[in-house]
Amino acid sequence: MLSLLQKTGRAGFKILQRPMSRVFSPGHSPLDQLGSLSIFFCWIVLVSGIWLLIFFHTSVSGAFESLEYLTHQQWYLGGIMRSLHRYASDALIVTVLLHIAKEFSFDRYRQSRWFSWVTGMPLIWMIFPLGITGYWLVWDELAHYTAITSAELMDAIPIFTGSMAANFLSDSVLSDRFFTLMAFLHLIGLPIFLVFGIWLHLFRISRPVISPPRTLMSGTLLAMLVLALVFPAESQDKANLSQATQSINLDWFYLHTYPLVRAWSPGWVWTMLVGITGLIVMAPWLPPGRKQEPAIVDLENCNGCRRCADDCPYGAIDMRPRSDGKSYTEEAVVVADLCVSCGICVGACPTASPFRTRSDLVPGIDLPALSAATLREKIKSASYKDDHTSRILTFCCEGNRVGKQLQSAGEAVIYVACMGQIPPSYLDYALSRGYADGIVLTACADGGCRFRFGADWTAQRVMRTRDPHLRKRIDNRKIAMIWRDKNIAPQQMSRHLQKLRASVDSVVRHGDAE
Ligand code: HEM
Ligand code: SF4
Ligand code: SF4
Repeated sequence: MLSLLQKTGRAGFKILQRPMSRVFSPGHSPLDQLGSLSIFFCWIVLVSGIWLLIFFHTSVSGAFESLEYLTHQQWYLGGIMRSLHRYASDALIVTVLLHIAKEFSFDRYRQSRWFSWVTGMPLIWMIFPLGITGYWLVWDELAHYTAITSAELMDAIPIFTGSMAANFLSDSVLSDRFFTLMAFLHLIGLPIFLVFGIWLHLFRISRPVISPPRTLMSGTLLAMLVLALVFPAESQDKANLSQATQSINLDWFYLHTYPLVRAWSPGWVWTMLVGITGLIVMAPWLPPGRKQEPAIVDLENCNGCRRCADDCPYGAIDMRPRSDGKSYTEEAVVVADLCVSCGICVGACPTASPFRTRSDLVPGIDLPALSAATLREKIKSASYKDDHTSRILTFCCEGNRVGKQLQSAGEAVIYVACMGQIPPSYLDYALSRGYADGIVLTACADGGCRFRFGADWTAQRVMRTRDPHLRKRIDNRKIAMIWRDKNIAPQQMSRHLQKLRASVDSVVRHGDAE
């Protein structure tokens, strides 16, 4: 059931991604940037909210008029700010829901990732009340409806004494103090908790991507500005507590559960909301994923260079003072609870060299499930089709479809936990020792890497912009990087291989770079 849900989710994302990949470069599409886009929308909401606050009257009598002034008299700035505030809040809901769906579908929420998953849920419980209290402040018919329905919901919680809904029986009962309390929650209380919540959410992630690419930010902002000018956010009729709310336009992003309060009952709506929250919070343990063995450090071979700690995408490596008396100042220590067993640290470790013959191949850090020594053996024993002049060895992340395609086409394929697990010295070894003539590296497309940075780090190592990098003696035209997770049409695949073989042949004819 779970894998069916995930499969369906992945298929859905691939369908959505297809048109996006025509417009955006890899890794720059909104679907690759859902977390950072959510933060960007929070920024728009914050900046536009500050402008609204300057002109807003936190009183029952003045609130509606102050927003009318901004919308109609100061439309060129205040009106635009109001629309940006509303549309960015709506967009935030969309990106956050897609973000949850994506992390779930691509199975990035279990085992060591449970912390980011569980700390994400309170963010949802802050964003919705933020939006809902925002609608109160407008004090129009929608605000009246929202306030009464929210009060009915609150009244269903047994801890509240007295009826909150009674506040909305007439204008004379509704006090400015109550209204100011809502303004405080919306403008100060909840935003402070949200900032803290986002910090906690990202606490365990190393180098979290918190800003989308500039082009995506400016494109999104431009689209919102156009929307703000074409469909400016407006109030509905002024709230009148002495009469029942007339027909109102609901904001379905924030208020979709409100009609259920009337249709069912507040109690049932709470049961549904708490039930869904509980299910989502428990999801990492339903069922518990099989935890892979974490990376292990071998102090005999660790020289404390910190590269593993710098490259680990989950901050799972602590550099601590040396404990074994060796002359190095630090040593790497894996925090097993944070390790997701991606092996990216092995790819970063300069001691993971397959050329070692005098001692056993035990690097400073290794992955028990596929050790550096086993990887070398796999390179040595790779079997090729013998109907080709050049032998192409493919390294592929577990679960990547392109690798599976190449394997079923008879190519030699070695699976690794993540593309980032392969130290560049292994590519050098395979090519310079004649175990392969050319190499294909195939990993998920930018932004889709299961371990966040595997494909990026490897590309940079091969292009010699990141340490440890591929030695200059290896011509990197012998290495093709196919960063995509979808099947490739057979003709396209054979074109890729032909191109690589032609490139390999030309390098062989003209000699390797020195
Ligand atoms: C305001 C709401 C949220 C914001 C701004 C936000 C933002 C982010 C960001 C920026 C990242 C890091 C992405 C990266 O660098 O690869 C992230 C990761 C993550 N988020 Fe959220 N998030 C939000 C809500 C949620 C919710 C509601 C959930 C789930 C219930 C969630 C689950 C996760 C998980 C599991 C990761 C870790 C992914 C991994 O380990 O590769 N997030 N989030
Ligand atoms: S295996 Fe991955 S998560 Fe674990 S320590 Fe190494 S780089 Fe970090
Ligand atoms: S990269 Fe290797 S040598 Fe450097 S600190 Fe990490 S384990 Fe030690």
